[in-house]
Amino acid sequence: MNLESKYSYVLIVLITFLIGMGCEPKQSTNLAAHTLIPHPAEIVATGERFLLASTFTVQIADESLQNLADYLIGEKSLFKMVDSQDADLLLTLNANDQKLGEEGYELEITKSQISISANQPQGIFYGLQTLMQLMPLSGDESVELPTGTIRDYPRYAYRGSMLDVSRHFFGVDDVKRYIDFIAAYKMNILHLHLTDDQGWRIEIKSKPNLTAMGASTEVGGGPGGFYTQMQYLEMVQYAADRFITIIPEIDIPGHTQAALASYPELNCDGKAGKLYTGTKVGFSTLCTDSEATYQFVDVVIQELAAITPGPYIHIGGDESHATKKEDYIYFINRVQKIVSKYDKILIGWDEVAQGEIDNESMVQQWNSASNATLAAEKGNKIILSPAKLAYMDMKYDSTSRIGYDWAALIEVDQAYNWNPDTINETVSPQLIYGIEAPLWTETVENMKDIEYLVFPRLLGYAEIGWSPQSVRKWGDYRTRLATYGSRFEADDIGYYRSPLVDWGKRDSIFVK
Ligand code: ACM
Repeated sequence: MNLESKYSYVLIVLITFLIGMGCEPKQSTNLAAHTLIPHPAEIVATGERFLLASTFTVQIADESLQNLADYLIGEKSLFKMVDSQDADLLLTLNANDQKLGEEGYELEITKSQISISANQPQGIFYGLQTLMQLMPLSGDESVELPTGTIRDYPRYAYRGSMLDVSRHFFGVDDVKRYIDFIAAYKMNILHLHLTDDQGWRIEIKSKPNLTAMGASTEVGGGPGGFYTQMQYLEMVQYAADRFITIIPEIDIPGHTQAALASYPELNCDGKAGKLYTGTKVGFSTLCTDSEATYQFVDVVIQELAAITPGPYIHIGGDESHATKKEDYIYFINRVQKIVSKYDKILIGWDEVAQGEIDNESMVQQWNSASNATLAAEKGNKIILSPAKLAYMDMKYDSTSRIGYDWAALIEVDQAYNWNPDTINETVSPQLIYGIEAPLWTETVENMKDIEYLVFPRLLGYAEIGWSPQSVRKWGDYRTRLATYGSRFEADDIGYYRSPLVDWGKRDSIFVK
Protein backbone atom coordinates (compact mmCIF):
# COMPACT_ATOMS: atom_id res chain seq x y z
CA MET A 1 0.00 0.00 0.00
CA ASN A 2 1.40 3.42 -0.89
CA LEU A 3 1.19 6.28 1.52
CA GLU A 4 -1.86 7.83 -0.15
CA SER A 5 -3.94 4.66 -0.13
CA LYS A 6 -2.87 4.00 3.47
CA TYR A 7 -4.31 7.38 4.44
CA SER A 8 -7.55 6.76 2.54
CA TYR A 9 -7.85 3.36 4.19
CA VAL A 10 -7.48 4.89 7.64
CA LEU A 11 -9.95 7.61 6.69
CA ILE A 12 -12.55 5.08 5.50
CA VAL A 13 -12.20 3.05 8.69
CA LEU A 14 -12.51 6.21 10.77
CA ILE A 15 -15.59 7.47 8.90
CA THR A 16 -17.26 4.06 9.11
CA PHE A 17 -16.56 4.04 12.85
CA LEU A 18 -17.95 7.54 13.35
CA ILE A 19 -21.09 6.83 11.28
CA GLY A 20 -21.57 3.65 13.26
CA MET A 21 -21.31 5.56 16.51
CA GLY A 22 -23.76 8.20 15.30
CA CYS A 23 -26.39 5.66 14.28
CA GLU A 24 -26.15 3.58 17.40
CA PRO A 25 -28.54 4.93 20.03
CA LYS A 26 -26.64 5.38 23.27
CA GLN A 27 -29.73 4.40 25.19
CA SER A 28 -32.60 2.05 24.51
CA THR A 29 -35.96 3.40 23.36
CA ASN A 30 -37.70 0.84 25.54
CA LEU A 31 -38.42 2.09 29.05
CA ALA A 32 -39.39 -1.45 30.04
CA ALA A 33 -35.76 -2.52 29.46
CA HIS A 34 -34.69 -0.46 32.46
CA THR A 35 -32.58 -1.94 35.25
CA LEU A 36 -34.17 0.05 38.08
CA ILE A 37 -33.79 -1.22 41.66
CA PRO A 38 -36.22 -1.50 43.34
CA HIS A 39 -38.30 -2.62 40.37
CA PRO A 40 -41.25 -0.23 39.87
CA ALA A 41 -44.81 -1.40 40.38
CA GLU A 42 -46.12 -0.41 36.92
CA ILE A 43 -44.46 0.65 33.64
CA VAL A 44 -45.90 1.58 30.26
CA ALA A 45 -43.25 2.14 27.54
CA THR A 46 -44.11 4.34 24.55
CA GLY A 47 -41.04 3.63 22.41
CA GLU A 48 -39.68 7.11 21.68
CA ARG A 49 -36.80 9.11 23.02
CA PHE A 50 -36.37 12.24 25.11
CA LEU A 51 -33.19 14.01 24.01
CA LEU A 52 -31.39 16.68 25.90
CA ALA A 53 -28.21 18.73 25.63
CA SER A 54 -25.84 19.73 28.40
CA THR A 55 -28.23 21.26 30.94
CA PHE A 56 -31.43 19.96 32.36
CA THR A 57 -33.90 22.61 33.54
CA VAL A 58 -36.18 22.00 36.52
CA GLN A 59 -39.44 23.73 37.42
CA ILE A 60 -41.38 23.19 40.66
CA ALA A 61 -45.14 23.68 40.76
CA ASP A 62 -45.25 24.05 44.54
CA GLU A 63 -42.90 25.97 46.85
CA SER A 64 -42.82 23.09 49.30
CA LEU A 65 -40.73 21.22 46.70
CA GLN A 66 -37.85 23.73 46.74
CA ASN A 67 -35.81 21.55 49.13
CA LEU A 68 -36.22 18.61 46.80
CA ALA A 69 -35.10 20.61 43.78
CA ASP A 70 -32.07 21.78 45.81
CA TYR A 71 -31.35 18.17 46.77
CA LEU A 72 -31.45 17.10 43.11
CA ILE A 73 -29.14 19.91 42.01
CA GLY A 74 -26.75 19.00 44.85
CA GLU A 75 -26.68 15.39 43.66
CA LYS A 76 -26.44 16.02 39.88
CA SER A 77 -24.91 19.30 38.77
CA LEU A 78 -26.42 19.23 35.27
CA PHE A 79 -29.84 20.14 36.72
CA LYS A 80 -30.64 23.90 36.82
CA MET A 81 -33.71 25.60 38.29
CA VAL A 82 -35.89 27.72 35.97
CA ASP A 83 -39.29 29.35 36.27
CA SER A 84 -40.97 28.07 33.12
CA GLN A 85 -43.60 25.49 32.26
CA ASP A 86 -41.32 24.36 29.42
CA ALA A 87 -38.65 23.08 31.79
CA ASP A 88 -37.20 19.69 30.97
CA LEU A 89 -38.30 18.38 34.35
CA LEU A 90 -41.50 19.42 36.08
CA LEU A 91 -42.20 18.49 39.72
CA THR A 92 -45.84 18.72 40.84
CA LEU A 93 -47.89 17.79 43.87
CA ASN A 94 -51.34 16.71 42.73
CA ALA A 95 -53.31 15.11 45.53
CA ASN A 96 -56.22 12.75 44.76
CA ASP A 97 -54.32 9.78 43.41
CA GLN A 98 -55.35 7.18 45.96
CA LYS A 99 -53.29 4.36 44.57
CA LEU A 100 -50.01 6.29 44.90
CA GLY A 101 -50.62 6.85 48.62
CA GLU A 102 -48.17 8.88 50.72
CA GLU A 103 -45.00 7.51 49.15
CA GLY A 104 -45.88 6.73 45.53
CA TYR A 105 -45.16 8.82 42.43
CA GLU A 106 -45.78 8.95 38.73
CA LEU A 107 -42.85 9.63 36.40
CA GLU A 108 -43.85 10.47 32.85
CA ILE A 109 -41.29 10.85 30.07
CA THR A 110 -42.49 12.27 26.76
CA LYS A 111 -40.41 13.38 23.76
CA SER A 112 -40.31 16.92 25.12
CA GLN A 113 -40.59 16.78 28.92
CA ILE A 114 -40.22 14.69 32.05
CA SER A 115 -42.70 15.16 34.88
CA ILE A 116 -42.82 13.70 38.33
CA SER A 117 -46.04 14.01 40.30
CA ALA A 118 -47.03 12.68 43.71
CA ASN A 119 -49.48 13.25 46.54
CA GLN A 120 -46.68 14.12 48.99
CA PRO A 121 -43.09 15.42 48.74
CA GLN A 122 -41.89 11.96 49.81
CA GLY A 123 -43.27 10.53 46.56
CA ILE A 124 -41.43 13.20 44.55
CA PHE A 125 -38.23 12.23 46.39
CA TYR A 126 -38.63 8.61 45.29
CA GLY A 127 -39.45 9.73 41.74
CA LEU A 128 -36.16 11.66 41.74
CA GLN A 129 -34.27 8.55 42.89
CA THR A 130 -35.79 6.68 39.94
CA LEU A 131 -34.88 9.47 37.53
CA MET A 132 -31.29 9.59 38.80
CA GLN A 133 -30.98 5.83 38.26
CA LEU A 134 -32.25 6.26 34.67
CA MET A 135 -29.58 8.85 33.85
CA PRO A 136 -26.35 7.66 32.25
CA LEU A 137 -23.34 7.61 34.55
CA SER A 138 -21.09 10.20 32.93
CA GLY A 139 -22.56 13.64 33.40
CA ASP A 140 -21.05 15.38 30.37
CA GLU A 141 -22.90 13.43 27.68
CA SER A 142 -26.23 14.38 26.19
CA VAL A 143 -29.09 12.62 27.90
CA GLU A 144 -31.36 10.22 26.02
CA LEU A 145 -34.18 8.58 27.88
CA PRO A 146 -36.86 6.22 26.55
CA THR A 147 -40.42 7.55 26.82
CA GLY A 148 -43.22 6.10 28.88
CA THR A 149 -44.84 6.22 32.31
CA ILE A 150 -43.80 4.67 35.60
CA ARG A 151 -46.39 4.49 38.37
CA ASP A 152 -44.74 3.31 41.51
CA TYR A 153 -45.58 2.79 45.18
CA PRO A 154 -44.22 0.56 47.96
CA ARG A 155 -45.34 -2.87 49.11
CA TYR A 156 -44.48 -2.14 52.77
CA ALA A 157 -44.67 0.99 54.91
CA TYR A 158 -41.50 -0.03 56.79
CA ARG A 159 -38.35 -0.57 54.69
CA GLY A 160 -35.27 -0.41 56.83
CA SER A 161 -31.72 -1.20 57.67
CA MET A 162 -30.02 -1.33 61.06
CA LEU A 163 -26.49 -0.18 61.81
CA ASP A 164 -24.82 -1.41 65.02
CA VAL A 165 -22.71 1.53 66.21
CA SER A 166 -21.97 -0.12 69.56
CA ARG A 167 -19.69 -3.06 68.71
CA HIS A 168 -17.64 -0.66 66.63
CA PHE A 169 -18.40 3.04 66.71
CA PHE A 170 -19.12 4.92 63.48
CA GLY A 171 -19.08 8.73 63.50
CA VAL A 172 -21.64 11.20 62.14
CA ASP A 173 -20.15 11.33 58.62
CA ASP A 174 -20.22 7.55 58.29
CA VAL A 175 -23.84 7.44 59.43
CA LYS A 176 -24.73 10.16 56.89
CA ARG A 177 -23.08 8.12 54.13
CA TYR A 178 -25.09 5.10 55.29
CA ILE A 179 -28.27 7.21 55.15
CA ASP A 180 -27.44 8.15 51.55
CA PHE A 181 -26.93 4.48 50.71
CA ILE A 182 -30.36 3.46 51.91
CA ALA A 183 -32.17 6.57 50.59
CA ALA A 184 -31.01 5.79 47.04
CA TYR A 185 -33.03 2.56 47.11
CA LYS A 186 -36.16 4.08 48.68
CA MET A 187 -35.71 2.72 52.21
CA ASN A 188 -37.34 4.88 54.88
CA ILE A 189 -36.05 3.56 58.23
CA LEU A 190 -32.58 3.65 59.81
CA HIS A 191 -32.52 1.68 63.06
CA LEU A 192 -29.44 2.64 65.11
CA HIS A 193 -28.34 0.02 67.65
CA LEU A 194 -26.97 2.59 70.09
CA THR A 195 -26.05 0.49 73.12
CA ASP A 196 -24.65 -2.94 73.83
CA ASP A 197 -22.12 -4.66 76.08
CA GLN A 198 -19.20 -3.07 74.26
CA GLY A 199 -20.29 0.57 74.27
CA TRP A 200 -22.98 3.15 75.07
CA ARG A 201 -23.10 5.60 72.14
CA ILE A 202 -25.66 8.30 72.95
CA GLU A 203 -25.24 11.20 75.39
CA ILE A 204 -27.73 11.06 78.27
CA LYS A 205 -27.24 14.36 80.08
CA SER A 206 -28.47 13.20 83.48
CA LYS A 207 -26.31 10.05 83.32
CA PRO A 208 -22.91 11.38 82.18
CA ASN A 209 -20.95 8.23 83.08
CA LEU A 210 -22.75 6.32 80.33
CA THR A 211 -20.59 8.16 77.84
CA ALA A 212 -17.62 9.22 80.00
CA MET A 213 -17.07 5.57 80.90
CA GLY A 214 -19.43 3.41 78.89
CA ALA A 215 -18.50 4.84 75.48
CA SER A 216 -14.74 4.60 75.99
CA THR A 217 -14.13 1.34 74.19
CA GLU A 218 -15.43 -1.11 71.58
CA VAL A 219 -14.81 -4.65 70.29
CA GLY A 220 -11.08 -5.29 70.25
CA GLY A 221 -10.33 -2.44 72.69
CA GLY A 222 -10.40 0.52 70.26
CA PRO A 223 -11.32 4.02 71.46
CA GLY A 224 -15.09 3.79 70.92
CA GLY A 225 -16.98 7.08 70.89
CA PHE A 226 -20.49 8.48 71.18
CA TYR A 227 -22.89 11.04 69.69
CA THR A 228 -23.73 14.18 71.63
CA GLN A 229 -27.44 14.94 71.54
CA MET A 230 -26.65 17.80 69.13
CA GLN A 231 -24.86 15.41 66.79
CA TYR A 232 -27.68 12.94 67.08
CA LEU A 233 -30.21 15.62 66.12
CA GLU A 234 -28.03 16.53 63.14
CA MET A 235 -28.25 12.92 61.93
CA VAL A 236 -32.01 12.85 62.58
CA GLN A 237 -32.40 15.96 60.41
CA TYR A 238 -30.13 14.62 57.66
CA ALA A 239 -32.24 11.46 57.59
CA ALA A 240 -35.54 13.41 57.67
CA ASP A 241 -34.40 15.45 54.66
CA ARG A 242 -34.24 12.11 52.85
CA PHE A 243 -37.60 10.91 54.27
CA ILE A 244 -35.90 8.47 56.62
CA THR A 245 -36.97 8.00 60.24
CA ILE A 246 -34.21 7.09 62.68
CA ILE A 247 -35.28 4.51 65.27
CA PRO A 248 -32.99 4.61 68.31
CA GLU A 249 -32.38 1.34 70.15
CA ILE A 250 -31.39 1.08 73.79
CA ASP A 251 -30.88 -2.66 74.26
CA ILE A 252 -32.16 -3.75 77.73
CA PRO A 253 -32.19 -5.66 80.08
CA GLY A 254 -29.40 -7.81 78.53
CA HIS A 255 -26.58 -6.51 76.31
CA THR A 256 -25.93 -3.89 79.01
CA GLN A 257 -22.36 -4.36 80.23
CA ALA A 258 -21.35 -0.80 79.21
CA ALA A 259 -24.15 0.62 81.40
CA LEU A 260 -23.37 -1.83 84.25
CA ALA A 261 -19.74 -0.65 84.18
CA SER A 262 -20.85 3.01 84.27
CA TYR A 263 -23.38 2.88 87.16
CA PRO A 264 -22.89 0.41 90.07
CA GLU A 265 -26.54 0.68 91.19
CA LEU A 266 -27.70 -1.10 88.03
CA ASN A 267 -25.99 -4.29 89.26
CA CYS A 268 -27.82 -6.49 91.80
CA ASP A 269 -24.68 -6.63 93.98
CA GLY A 270 -24.27 -2.83 93.81
CA LYS A 271 -20.76 -3.13 92.34
CA ALA A 272 -19.81 -1.67 88.96
CA GLY A 273 -19.14 -4.26 86.28
CA LYS A 274 -16.06 -4.19 84.04
CA LEU A 275 -15.94 -2.71 80.55
CA TYR A 276 -16.14 -5.43 77.91
CA THR A 277 -14.40 -5.61 74.52
CA GLY A 278 -15.07 -9.24 73.51
CA THR A 279 -17.84 -10.64 71.31
CA LYS A 280 -19.80 -13.00 73.58
CA VAL A 281 -23.52 -12.36 74.11
CA GLY A 282 -26.07 -13.17 76.79
CA PHE A 283 -24.01 -12.63 79.97
CA SER A 284 -25.18 -9.21 81.23
CA THR A 285 -28.43 -7.98 82.76
CA LEU A 286 -29.77 -4.91 84.51
CA CYS A 287 -31.03 -5.76 88.00
CA THR A 288 -34.72 -6.22 87.24
CA ASP A 289 -36.02 -6.09 90.82
CA SER A 290 -34.32 -2.84 91.78
CA GLU A 291 -36.13 0.51 91.55
CA ALA A 292 -32.82 2.15 90.58
CA THR A 293 -33.07 0.24 87.29
CA TYR A 294 -36.50 1.67 86.48
CA GLN A 295 -35.44 5.20 87.45
CA PHE A 296 -32.48 4.76 85.10
CA VAL A 297 -34.65 3.45 82.23
CA ASP A 298 -37.11 6.30 82.79
CA VAL A 299 -34.53 9.08 82.42
CA VAL A 300 -32.86 7.38 79.46
CA ILE A 301 -36.18 6.97 77.60
CA GLN A 302 -37.24 10.48 78.56
CA GLU A 303 -34.09 12.06 77.09
CA LEU A 304 -34.15 9.79 74.08
CA ALA A 305 -37.82 10.55 73.36
CA ALA A 306 -37.02 14.26 73.47
CA ILE A 307 -34.51 13.91 70.59
CA THR A 308 -36.66 11.46 68.63
CA PRO A 309 -39.28 13.10 66.42
CA GLY A 310 -40.22 9.70 64.97
CA PRO A 311 -42.89 7.60 66.73
CA TYR A 312 -40.71 4.61 67.74
CA ILE A 313 -38.26 3.65 70.47
CA HIS A 314 -36.60 0.24 70.22
CA ILE A 315 -35.87 -1.38 73.58
CA GLY A 316 -33.91 -4.40 72.34
CA GLY A 317 -34.92 -7.19 74.71
CA ASP A 318 -32.99 -9.92 72.85
CA GLU A 319 -30.80 -12.68 74.27
CA SER A 320 -31.40 -11.82 77.94
CA HIS A 321 -30.02 -15.21 78.97
CA ALA A 322 -28.75 -13.82 82.29
CA THR A 323 -32.28 -12.69 83.27
CA LYS A 324 -34.79 -15.21 84.68
CA LYS A 325 -37.87 -15.57 82.47
CA GLU A 326 -40.32 -14.18 85.04
CA ASP A 327 -37.98 -11.25 85.75
CA TYR A 328 -37.64 -10.60 82.02
CA ILE A 329 -41.42 -10.46 81.56
CA TYR A 330 -41.84 -8.18 84.60
CA PHE A 331 -39.12 -5.92 83.19
CA ILE A 332 -40.62 -5.71 79.67
CA ASN A 333 -44.05 -4.93 81.14
CA ARG A 334 -42.65 -2.03 83.15
CA VAL A 335 -40.55 -0.70 80.27
CA GLN A 336 -43.64 -0.79 78.01
CA LYS A 337 -45.35 1.59 80.46
CA ILE A 338 -42.34 3.93 80.44
CA VAL A 339 -42.20 4.05 76.63
CA SER A 340 -45.95 4.78 76.48
CA LYS A 341 -45.60 7.49 79.15
CA TYR A 342 -43.26 9.37 76.79
CA ASP A 343 -45.73 8.94 73.89
CA LYS A 344 -43.61 6.56 71.88
CA ILE A 345 -44.41 3.22 70.29
CA LEU A 346 -42.32 0.30 71.55
CA ILE A 347 -40.40 -1.96 69.19
CA GLY A 348 -38.42 -4.92 70.49
CA TRP A 349 -36.64 -8.01 69.18
CA ASP A 350 -38.94 -11.03 68.99
CA GLU A 351 -38.46 -12.09 72.64
CA VAL A 352 -40.54 -9.08 73.81
CA ALA A 353 -43.66 -10.83 72.47
CA GLN A 354 -43.51 -12.81 75.75
CA GLY A 355 -44.37 -9.67 77.72
CA GLU A 356 -47.60 -7.69 77.93
CA ILE A 357 -46.99 -5.28 75.16
CA ASP A 358 -49.50 -2.75 73.81
CA ASN A 359 -51.46 -3.42 70.64
CA GLU A 360 -49.54 -0.89 68.60
CA SER A 361 -46.09 -2.15 69.75
CA MET A 362 -44.12 -3.99 67.10
CA VAL A 363 -42.07 -7.17 67.26
CA GLN A 364 -38.92 -7.55 65.17
CA GLN A 365 -38.50 -11.21 64.26
CA TRP A 366 -34.85 -12.18 64.00
CA ASN A 367 -34.81 -15.71 65.36
CA SER A 368 -37.93 -17.31 66.77
CA ALA A 369 -41.01 -18.36 64.79
CA SER A 370 -42.82 -19.13 68.07
CA ASN A 371 -42.29 -15.56 69.30
CA ALA A 372 -43.64 -14.32 65.96
CA THR A 373 -46.67 -16.59 66.39
CA LEU A 374 -47.20 -15.22 69.90
CA ALA A 375 -47.04 -11.65 68.58
CA ALA A 376 -49.45 -12.48 65.76
CA GLU A 377 -51.92 -14.07 68.20
CA LYS A 378 -51.96 -10.81 70.14
CA GLY A 379 -52.38 -8.81 66.91
CA ASN A 380 -49.00 -7.08 67.11
CA LYS A 381 -47.39 -6.05 63.82
CA ILE A 382 -44.17 -7.79 62.84
CA ILE A 383 -41.00 -6.46 61.24
CA LEU A 384 -39.10 -9.23 59.50
CA SER A 385 -35.33 -9.54 59.92
CA PRO A 386 -34.82 -13.31 59.78
CA ALA A 387 -31.12 -13.83 60.56
CA LYS A 388 -30.74 -16.65 58.02
CA LEU A 389 -31.86 -14.36 55.20
CA ALA A 390 -31.52 -10.74 56.21
CA TYR A 391 -28.46 -10.38 58.50
CA MET A 392 -25.88 -8.48 56.49
CA ASP A 393 -23.12 -9.41 58.96
CA MET A 394 -23.33 -12.99 57.67
CA LYS A 395 -20.60 -13.98 55.20
CA TYR A 396 -21.50 -14.40 51.53
CA ASP A 397 -19.56 -17.66 51.32
CA SER A 398 -16.79 -19.37 53.23
CA THR A 399 -14.16 -17.11 51.63
CA SER A 400 -15.67 -13.77 52.74
CA ARG A 401 -12.94 -11.66 54.36
CA ILE A 402 -15.13 -10.58 57.31
CA GLY A 403 -18.51 -11.52 58.76
CA TYR A 404 -20.02 -14.37 60.73
CA ASP A 405 -21.68 -17.61 59.65
CA TRP A 406 -23.63 -18.71 62.75
CA ALA A 407 -27.00 -18.11 61.07
CA ALA A 408 -26.10 -18.91 57.45
CA LEU A 409 -23.89 -18.04 54.52
CA ILE A 410 -25.98 -15.51 52.60
CA GLU A 411 -25.03 -15.15 48.94
CA VAL A 412 -26.70 -12.45 46.87
CA ASP A 413 -29.37 -14.86 45.56
CA GLN A 414 -30.34 -16.10 49.05
CA ALA A 415 -30.53 -12.52 50.30
CA TYR A 416 -32.95 -11.68 47.48
CA ASN A 417 -34.96 -14.83 46.95
CA TRP A 418 -37.58 -14.86 49.71
CA ASN A 419 -41.11 -13.69 50.19
CA PRO A 420 -42.05 -12.02 53.51
CA ASP A 421 -45.54 -13.54 53.27
CA THR A 422 -44.28 -17.12 53.53
CA ILE A 423 -41.62 -16.83 56.25
CA ASN A 424 -44.10 -17.84 58.97
CA GLU A 425 -46.95 -20.26 58.42
CA THR A 426 -48.81 -18.83 61.38
CA VAL A 427 -48.57 -15.11 60.66
CA SER A 428 -51.14 -13.43 58.46
CA PRO A 429 -49.48 -11.31 55.73
CA GLN A 430 -51.57 -8.35 56.94
CA LEU A 431 -49.53 -8.30 60.17
CA ILE A 432 -46.21 -7.87 58.37
CA TYR A 433 -45.35 -4.21 58.64
CA GLY A 434 -42.15 -4.44 56.63
CA ILE A 435 -38.63 -5.71 56.52
CA GLU A 436 -35.27 -4.60 57.90
CA ALA A 437 -31.74 -5.74 57.07
CA PRO A 438 -29.45 -5.37 60.11
CA LEU A 439 -25.68 -4.91 60.01
CA TRP A 440 -24.08 -6.04 63.29
CA THR A 441 -20.50 -4.83 63.51
CA GLU A 442 -18.43 -7.21 65.63
CA THR A 443 -16.22 -7.88 62.55
CA VAL A 444 -16.85 -4.51 60.89
CA GLU A 445 -14.27 -1.84 61.72
CA ASN A 446 -14.54 0.85 59.05
CA MET A 447 -16.57 2.18 56.14
CA LYS A 448 -14.93 -0.15 53.62
CA ASP A 449 -15.99 -3.12 55.77
CA ILE A 450 -19.54 -1.75 55.89
CA GLU A 451 -19.58 -1.36 52.11
CA TYR A 452 -18.29 -4.88 51.53
CA LEU A 453 -21.04 -6.55 53.57
CA VAL A 454 -23.85 -4.20 52.58
CA PHE A 455 -23.25 -4.00 48.82
CA PRO A 456 -24.83 -5.49 46.89
CA ARG A 457 -27.18 -7.25 49.33
CA LEU A 458 -28.83 -4.00 50.45
CA LEU A 459 -30.37 -3.48 47.00
CA GLY A 460 -32.14 -6.84 47.22
CA TYR A 461 -33.60 -6.03 50.64
CA ALA A 462 -34.75 -2.65 49.34
CA GLU A 463 -36.52 -4.40 46.48
CA ILE A 464 -38.17 -6.95 48.79
CA GLY A 465 -39.54 -4.04 50.83
CA TRP A 466 -40.71 -1.93 47.88
CA SER A 467 -41.63 -4.01 44.83
CA PRO A 468 -44.69 -6.22 44.32
CA GLN A 469 -43.80 -9.91 44.71
CA SER A 470 -45.15 -10.55 41.19
CA VAL A 471 -42.36 -8.51 39.50
CA ARG A 472 -39.51 -10.04 41.54
CA LYS A 473 -37.57 -12.76 39.73
CA TRP A 474 -33.99 -13.66 40.60
CA GLY A 475 -32.90 -14.07 36.94
CA ASP A 476 -34.17 -10.62 35.99
CA TYR A 477 -32.85 -9.04 39.22
CA ARG A 478 -29.41 -10.50 38.60
CA THR A 479 -29.31 -8.87 35.15
CA ARG A 480 -30.41 -5.52 36.55
CA LEU A 481 -27.95 -5.71 39.43
CA ALA A 482 -25.06 -6.23 36.99
CA THR A 483 -25.42 -2.63 35.78
CA TYR A 484 -24.78 -1.26 39.30
CA GLY A 485 -21.15 -2.33 39.59
CA SER A 486 -19.87 0.69 37.66
CA ARG A 487 -22.23 2.90 39.65
CA PHE A 488 -20.82 1.60 42.94
CA GLU A 489 -17.33 2.26 41.57
CA ALA A 490 -18.28 5.82 40.59
CA ASP A 491 -19.40 6.38 44.22
CA ASP A 492 -16.23 4.74 45.58
CA ILE A 493 -18.25 1.92 47.15
CA GLY A 494 -16.11 -1.16 47.80
CA TYR A 495 -18.74 -3.83 47.00
CA TYR A 496 -18.54 -7.62 46.96
CA ARG A 497 -18.23 -8.78 43.35
CA SER A 498 -20.42 -11.86 43.71
CA PRO A 499 -19.59 -14.53 41.11
CA LEU A 500 -23.35 -14.96 40.62
CA VAL A 501 -23.54 -11.56 38.89
CA ASP A 502 -22.05 -10.67 35.50
CA TRP A 503 -20.52 -7.32 36.47
CA GLY A 504 -19.86 -5.89 33.01
CA LYS A 505 -18.40 -2.41 32.61
CA ARG A 506 -21.57 -0.50 31.73
CA ASP A 507 -22.54 3.09 31.55
CA SER A 508 -26.18 2.59 30.73
CA ILE A 509 -28.95 1.50 33.05
CA PHE A 510 -30.76 -0.13 30.12
CA VAL A 511 -30.10 -3.73 29.16
CA LYS A 512 -31.51 -3.96 25.66
C1 ACM B 1 -29.93 -10.34 67.75
O1 ACM B 1 -29.33 -10.73 66.73
N1 ACM B 1 -29.47 -10.67 68.95
C2 ACM B 1 -31.13 -9.53 67.67
